Amino acid sequence: MGSKQKIGLIGGGQIGGNLALLSMQKQLGDVVLYDIPAAEGLVKGKALDINQLAAVDGYDCRVTGTTDWKDVAGSDVVIITAGMPRKPGMTREDLLEVNLKIMKDVASNVKTHCPNAFVINVANPLDAMVYALFKITGFKKHQVLGMAGVLDTARFKFFVAEALNVSIRDIEALVLGGHGDDMVPLLRHSTVGGVPLTELLRKDALDAIVDRTRKGGGELVALYKTGSAYFAPAASAIAMAESFVFDRKRVLPAAALLEGQYGIKDFFMGVPVQIGAGGVEKVIELQLNDAEKAELQKSFASVKKTVDEVKL
Ligand code: APR
Repeated sequence: MGSKQKIGLIGGGQIGGNLALLSMQKQLGDVVLYDIPAAEGLVKGKALDINQLAAVDGYDCRVTGTTDWKDVAGSDVVIITAGMPRKPGMTREDLLEVNLKIMKDVASNVKTHCPNAFVINVANPLDAMVYALFKITGFKKHQVLGMAGVLDTARFKFFVAEALNVSIRDIEALVLGGHGDDMVPLLRHSTVGGVPLTELLRKDALDAIVDRTRKGGGELVALYKTGSAYFAPAASAIAMAESFVFDRKRVLPAAALLEGQYGIKDFFMGVPVQIGAGGVEKVIELQLNDAEKAELQKSFASVKKTVDEVKL
């Protein structure tokens, strides 16, 4: 491989810090961890701490903590976690106003300083924030993605592994739609070691797993009380970044720009995409039955309602 990639992490909070750690452990490249001036000590401290971890494990990458966009300039990958997390009792949509203001600042800086980056948004409400990012930057559709499907699918897989007492590795699953409580776990497309999930679990058990997956983010918010999930969200965004950096061409669910696929146009929503060195190399449209189509449309209606409130 040629020179090291530059990974710009915007937001150095709970998810941002874990993104920096995982980027180092997977040796994705040199990391720049950016946050606002009020959080300078936080990002400089996390950078120093992780660089010292690199000395323990012998990694050749470096993390820089900064409050200056100039240090982020020229990043090959940008992952955005700048924004407020939920507190108990809040929906992701309740974050729209405050996080849109932050996204306007972040997106215009990404546009100026990292015009060629592959950009993954993690901030919530996910599908509306990635839409705002796309519109503000004016970036090409293959450059912009939202992270939600990998996380939602991971939650689903974990609950299945627990219910069946099987290895999580053998579970294939897919969760489509918006990153909200009406996301669509596709049971018909889920298998355990190739065996359809519907043959292994009874309907009531499956329904319970679907319900817990849909409310998976809220379950963590209720436990943490001061914020939302961060380990699995960070790992999910890193899986996407890794596929780009190493041109793995993985097929992962993510919020991509739809241009008529699934009957949806000019909105971002969770669908299977292929991620490689070209960014979003393909949006995959799979055949859904009528019930699945109806569920996806319901999820889209929620996404659209929030996006319609995005004033740029
Ligand atoms: N530019 C850069 N960073 C910012 C900005 C900004 N304009 N505004 C706020 N931040 C930073 C905060 O200073 C904070 O350090 O974003 C960071 C957010 O970190 P946390 O509060 O720990 O939130 P986290 O758990 O990481 O979640 C971030 O991802 O999953 C979503 O819903 C979640 O929207 C939330 C986001």
